[in-house]
Amino acid sequence: MKVFVNRVISPSGVEIMKNAGISVDQWTEKREITPDELIQICKNYDGLIIAGRNKIDKTFLNACRHLKVIALHSVGYDHVDVEEATRLKIPIGNTPGVLSAATADVAFFLMMAVARKAFFMHKRILKGEWRFFEPTANLGMDLEGKTLGIFGLGKIGMEVASRCRKTFEMPVIYCNRHPNTEAEEKLGAVRVSFDELLRQSDVLSVHSVLSEETAGLFDRHAFSRMKNSAIFINTARGGIHNEEDLVAALNNKTIWGAGLDVTNPEPMKPDNPLLFMENVAVLPHIGTATLETREKMVSIVAKNIIAGLAGQPIPYAVNPQIYGSEQERVV
Ligand code: DGY
Repeated sequence: MKVFVNRVISPSGVEIMKNAGISVDQWTEKREITPDELIQICKNYDGLIIAGRNKIDKTFLNACRHLKVIALHSVGYDHVDVEEATRLKIPIGNTPGVLSAATADVAFFLMMAVARKAFFMHKRILKGEWRFFEPTANLGMDLEGKTLGIFGLGKIGMEVASRCRKTFEMPVIYCNRHPNTEAEEKLGAVRVSFDELLRQSDVLSVHSVLSEETAGLFDRHAFSRMKNSAIFINTARGGIHNEEDLVAALNNKTIWGAGLDVTNPEPMKPDNPLLFMENVAVLPHIGTATLETREKMVSIVAKNIIAGLAGQPIPYAVNPQIYGSEQERVV
């Protein structure tokens, strides 16, 4: 059995698959594979591992319906047409659970970086602008006791909320389609409407999936309903906010600051105005990028591949319904 990987992944994952008798080829060029190239390449493989954002759409799935399994090196699967994969009975695997803490760390880090204008201050040192102490200059804001609003309170949101409660005693409100009773019991989180989330949050952190429902949801209308003193954080998917509207909201002081680990598009261009704003911190989608987390992710990827190629139900399926099971999707 042969598997193709569209990136170079951690050697430990490759090793696990090789030990299971699977031959593994990786794409080593530092550029995206084009959709046509991916189809052509996959004709010679039984399984596929996708890291990054190569689209697994209807065209790809129908051209490569022979694939026994597609394992995503991510928890997010917004780049996959899951409905079509399910119709074609192709199992799609993802990496839930193991990356929640690392991603939450980045959201928490961004909140503090924005609140203290850290990235901008660092750039000032590089420009030789650290000259003398001015008591009224470089002022950020405290996070202690401020209200944290979470949009999409799942596993990652829980980790973020718990950090904010423990460190800054921040009250937590959240907006979800369904109540999160665990968050309500453990963290005293209060479920509110989207409008209330916008109006009450001092820090609003996005942790939902990107879907038709959430695409571009944080636009100028949403920002206009937020506090002028609010910080907007997005570590989920750049497509959930409208970047032009975010730039305008920051320029017009409709909101106070923003911290992004995800942008729209990715990669962000180096001349993007967000990179030069005082109250903004941007990172290049490094939420899961710790050695430990990436090791755990490739181990799950390998498990999904090994099971899928053996014709067995994959352990972390996004579309378990192809096996007629009720296994829950965990984000
Ligand atoms: C994920 O796992 O979805 C991360 O955002 C990396 O793509």
